[in-house]
Amino acid sequence: LCLISGSANSPLSQEVARYLGIDLIPVIRKRFADGEIYVQILESIRGSDVYLLQPTCRPVNDHLMELLIMVDACRRASARQITAVLPYYGYARADRKTAGRESITAKLAANLIAKSGTDRVLAMDLHSAQIQGYFDIPLDHIYGAPVLVNYLKSKQLSDIVVVSPDVGGVARARAFAKALDDAPLAIIDKRRQAHNVAEVMNVIGDVSGKTAVLVDDMIDTAGTITEGAKILRKEGARQVYACSTHAVFSHPAIERLSSGCLEEVIVTNTVPIAQENHFPQLKVLTVA
Ligand code: R5P
Repeated sequence: LCLISGSANSPLSQEVARYLGIDLIPVIRKRFADGEIYVQILESIRGSDVYLLQPTCRPVNDHLMELLIMVDACRRASARQITAVLPYYGYARADRKTAGRESITAKLAANLIAKSGTDRVLAMDLHSAQIQGYFDIPLDHIYGAPVLVNYLKSKQLSDIVVVSPDVGGVARARAFAKALDDAPLAIIDKRRQAHNVAEVMNVIGDVSGKTAVLVDDMIDTAGTITEGAKILRKEGARQVYACSTHAVFSHPAIERLSSGCLEEVIVTNTVPIAQENHFPQLKVLTVA
């Protein structure tokens, strides 16, 4: 078994390697003057089962392309089997056409990964469950929820209500609530007028006097979570926690999340978080 790290999240790769008691296979990564990416694997991987760990997070295009180039390099180095380990899968949100003449990027990126010579994919918390089927190769889909739930349980919070910040996330929130000793569920009916602009309308379910735990797959600009937290407070929630596997944290997420509307923002390290983006309410759990 060989583990190779892309440049997207080397701390996580190092942690996984430590956990497995192996060394990462050394790799040279360079840029040509025009921005093209160069990769060379520095040890023989002939006949090996290779795991390439690379979340396709920001800058998404660079990390996706680097992954494809690494797969190609491994294929040409006669690896026996190549597994792309995608703690975060970028381009996942366009998973269907919502208007005419749009692309379905979740399928396009899956095609690129499968066609590059990847044999298998290990993905975490794909934006929607059907994306598993967009890969024409075997895929294992694992979840950050056990890590998040364990942490929440250790806090021994009382009167929890799990809240889905939108109708699309109900199945995820329901599973989370079940794992949290069958906590009750509430749903926010969110209407979005433009990409990355969240508008909250109604809360379906009772949150008054309770500890609300908002659950989402990713926090990007944090509009969804913070608008959700505000409406939950308005509806009488005592305190609001946010739980999310992927801390994408695009501007202005940090300002929004640290503005005081959330007791704690609990995320995992599928996407690396720069030190300057840490704030007092942030708790980062490891999925290594
Ligand atoms: C939407 O369907 C996703 O599950 C997230 O709710 C969304 O991508 C979060 O984006 P933002 O943090 O920018 O509101």
